[in-house]
Amino acid sequence: MATDIPQLESLQFSRGARVLVRFDFNVPLTDGHIDDDLRITTALPTIEWLRDRHAVVVACGHLGRPGGASDPRYSMAPVAARLGELLGCEVPLAPAVVGPRVEPIVASSPPGSVVLLENLRFEPGETACEPGFATNLVELAEAYVNDAFGASHREHASIVGPPRVLPHAGGRLLVKEVEVLSRLLDSPAHPFVGVLGGVKVGDKLGVIDALLDRCDTVLVGGAMAFTFLVAQGYRVGDSIVQPEMVDECRRVLETGRVRVPVDVVVARDASDDAETRIVPAGAIPDGWTGMDIGPETAALYADELAGAATVLWNGPMGMFELAPFASGTRAVAEAVASSPGFTVVGGGDSAAAIRRMGLAREVDHVSTGGGAALEYIERGDLPGLAALRQKEAAR
Ligand code: 3PG
Ligand code: MG
Repeated sequence: MATDIPQLESLQFSRGARVLVRFDFNVPLTDGHIDDDLRITTALPTIEWLRDRHAVVVACGHLGRPGGASDPRYSMAPVAARLGELLGCEVPLAPAVVGPRVEPIVASSPPGSVVLLENLRFEPGETACEPGFATNLVELAEAYVNDAFGASHREHASIVGPPRVLPHAGGRLLVKEVEVLSRLLDSPAHPFVGVLGGVKVGDKLGVIDALLDRCDTVLVGGAMAFTFLVAQGYRVGDSIVQPEMVDECRRVLETGRVRVPVDVVVARDASDDAETRIVPAGAIPDGWTGMDIGPETAALYADELAGAATVLWNGPMGMFELAPFASGTRAVAEAVASSPGFTVVGGGDSAAAIRRMGLAREVDHVSTGGGAALEYIERGDLPGLAALRQKEAAR
C-alpha cells in the first residue's frame, strides 16, 4: 500500500545536504533525440520539492541496456539537456557514475542545484546488485529518494541498496503510481474492464489471472489474441502463436469473462503499404498474418468501455506503428479516453500510443511503468517498494 511508503515530508536533511534520487529516465531515443519525455516531466515535482528545501539533488537513472560498460550511445547527456530546459537551470552531467571524477562535482554543488550522474548501467555492479557499487553510490549522499517507479521491479543496486543505509523516502511520482494502481487492485468501482494487448500471451497470463480476480471483463487484442483463437479451435494462418500456452488460454476462456477478437485485419506482410483484408476471426486464410483487431471487434470493445466504471489498458491491439494496422489501437484509445470511468493506461507501448494520438489528457492516469506496472498488478508489490519500507541500518 502506498501509505506504507515513507513520503518526502518524512525525510530529514539539512540545508545543502546531498540527496541521491533514483529516477526512471529510460526514455525512448532516436539518434540522441528524445522521442517522448514523459519520464522526465514526471520527475519534476520531486526535484522542485527538494530544490525548494535547499538540497543538492544528485539525480541518477539508467538508459537502455549498455551491458555494464561505458558507451557514448547510452550517455545521459540528452536527459541532462532536457532536464536543464525544463528546470530553467544548468544540469551538469558527471563524467561517470561514481568515483574520483564524480565526487568533487557533487561536493561543490551549491544548495538548490541539480547534478546528473552518468548512466547507472555503465557500472556492472548496478544490474548485478553488487554491495560494493551500492556503497560507492551512497557515499555520494546523505539521504535517498526513489522516484523510479518504472524501474522498481528491478532488484538493482541503485533501487534496493541505498535504503538499507540512508534515510529514505518515495518520490512524488512513485507514490502517485502506487496509489493509482493500488486503488485498481483494492477498491475498483465496477464494472471494471481490463484491456490487454501485446505480443506474448505467456508474459501476460499472470496479469490476466490477477485481473480476472478483480475485473468483470477482460478484452484481449494484439498478437497474443491469436493463441486464444487457437484455443477456441480456429486456424490462424501465419499469425504469431505460442502453442505451449493454448491450454492456459483455454482455461482462461472458460471463465466466460474474457473477450477475444471476432474479426481481424490480416496482411501478407508487415509494411506501410501492405495489402490488407478484414476477415472473421475463424477465417484467417493460410499465408496471411493477423495484424490488428477488426472493426467489429473494435466496436464491441468500445461498447464495453463505454459502460465501464474502471478501466485498465495495457498493450496495443495491433502493430499500430504501421498505419494499416493502427485502427484497432486508435479505436480502443478513443474509447478509453471517452469512458466515463476511472481510466488508467499502463506504460510502455500503450502509453506511447495514447500520447501520440493526443488523448493522454483525457485519461485519469498514464503510468510511466510498463513492466513495473504489470508486475505490481500481478504481485501487489515490487522489490523497490519493499526496500523503501525497511528501516535503514546505521552506516
Ligand atoms: C523500463 O523501461 O521498463 C524500465 O526503465 C526498466 O528498464 P529495463 O526493462 O531495461 O530493466
Ligand atoms: Mg522494460
